[in-house]
Amino acid sequence: MMIVGIDGGNNEVDVASSLGLDHFVSQIGEFRERKMKDIHGKDDMVFEYQGRRGFAGTLALAESEFSGSIMGDSKAHEDAKLRILIALHRQCMMENEFKIVVGQPISKHTDEEKNRIKNMLIGSHDLIINGKRKIFTIQAVEVAAEGGAAFWAKPKDGLVRIIDVGSGTVNCASLRDKRYIDKDSFTLPFGMNTVKTNNLSEMSRGIVTQTSKKWNKEDFVWVLGGAAEILIPYIQKYYPNAMVMHPIFQALEAHPVFANSIGFYKIGTAIYG
Ligand SMILES: Nc1ncnc2c1ncn2[C@@H]1O[C@H](COP(=O)(O)OP(=O)(O)OP(=O)(O)O)[C@@H](O)[C@H]1O
Ligand SMILES: [Mg+2]
Repeated sequence: MMIVGIDGGNNEVDVASSLGLDHFVSQIGEFRERKMKDIHGKDDMVFEYQGRRGFAGTLALAESEFSGSIMGDSKAHEDAKLRILIALHRQCMMENEFKIVVGQPISKHTDEEKNRIKNMLIGSHDLIINGKRKIFTIQAVEVAAEGGAAFWAKPKDGLVRIIDVGSGTVNCASLRDKRYIDKDSFTLPFGMNTVKTNNLSEMSRGIVTQTSKKWNKEDFVWVLGGAAEILIPYIQKYYPNAMVMHPIFQALEAHPVFANSIGFYKIGTAIYG
């Protein structure tokens, strides 16, 4: 049995396990017969699952006409399931039994949505990627809050605010002495890929207009997600004590895009270990 933390993001799937860190673009698209089979990236994937054939990763990005990633504030849907199964297919080296922790935005982190995610994942799966068939079992699923669970990638005492800037959502979480404060945690329904403007300063202002309703200027803030490093100077204008979170994995610092997946993995080792 292997424990895996999977952050099936709208833009990128990030994975943490005893094998290390893995990531690939979240794009999923339809299958097309190709006359020329050029390589578009290291994550070109043709998948077959329950009679559905399609392109995933860099191949979907380049060759599917309807490629994309279904956005929104819940990850209880078929594409999110496929991203997780693809991540596990890539983990099937020695093991084919998994206990996993996956993410869900804070706003839809309800028992009903969490059960939908568990029910769609638990059990045996038969997935072919690039001709390689793998049959594996998901024995247990836990659903963690995006942003909030990233805390466990670098735990800290006192009051900690977290801003996880994703491609489709921004998750804002609060913890005091390692305890989650529900009333100070929420999801903003936009992200780096859903806003038309490329203006990082306006994007940061949009986030802070919401967080400042509850949070104070002096609060300690971790910023994480794929765009953490480019956003930090703007967020520091409002929160001078904000810092980029470099999650700790296998005693080394990792990129802030892995903060959720590493947090999920650490939760997994605590509950399943
Ligand atoms: N250097 C960069 N410059 C500009 N944008 C970047 C950079 N690096 C990452 N991004 C953007 O940051 C966004 C967040 O990436 P991330 O992988 O954290 O999102 P996600 O977790 O897949 O999405 P979600 O959390 O909404 O499910 C992406 O839209 C990506 O395009
Ligand atoms: Mg994310």
